[in-house]
Amino acid sequence: MAISHVWLSSHLRSGDHVVDATCGNGNDTLLLAGLVGKNGRVWAFDIQEEAIRKTELLLENSGISDRVRLINSGHEKLSEHISFPVSAFVFNLGYLPGGSRNIITKPETTLSALSQATELLLPGGIIAVTLYPGHSGGDSEASAVNEWASSTSPQNIHAWRMHQTNVPGYAPYFILLQKALS
Ligand SMILES: C[S@@+](CC[C@H](N)C(=O)[O-])C[C@H]1O[C@@H](n2cnc3c(N)ncnc32)[C@H](O)[C@@H]1O
Repeated sequence: MAISHVWLSSHLRSGDHVVDATCGNGNDTLLLAGLVGKNGRVWAFDIQEEAIRKTELLLENSGISDRVRLINSGHEKLSEHISFPVSAFVFNLGYLPGGSRNIITKPETTLSALSQATELLLPGGIIAVTLYPGHSGGDSEASAVNEWASSTSPQNIHAWRMHQTNVPGYAPYFILLQKALS
């Protein structure tokens, strides 16, 4: 199981409101839709129509598309679509697996979205960020996200970084941000 899924599974409860900032092939959206249950809601963003279609199909095949709103837009416009407290955000960065490797998340828009997410997050809520330094453009994005996470106020945000230690240094890794309770 992906480390992000471990954290999300232990944190989320039925009825929660959550956001998938990069729905891609829909795997994270599907997990979120299952975890929040029929009374919960998921908002899922992607800039590629292909990703929105794939996610839609996956959800329909699983019979849980009713609780998910798919938004074909960049996550940097998060606050235009979300104006209520959110229990968890998922940022699975990089390119669409199986799609074009030239369409990738970018530092400027990712940081803008992460910053908006910290404002929208409920106290105790989490942001799960998976970073891929191994692809072209991924290293600079990972550095930018690391720097941003390190600069958040520890009174407001608890920022953690998790690496798998028995794989090469350019392997994906994970940053978990949790909003302080008060
Ligand atoms: C690694 S994939 C996501 C994987 C996905 N969560 C899954 O479970 O299959 C990264 C996705 O980010 C999308 N993306 C790139 N820039 C974006 C942006 N500014 N806003 C939203 N999505 C973006 C890409 O189109 C791609 O589908």
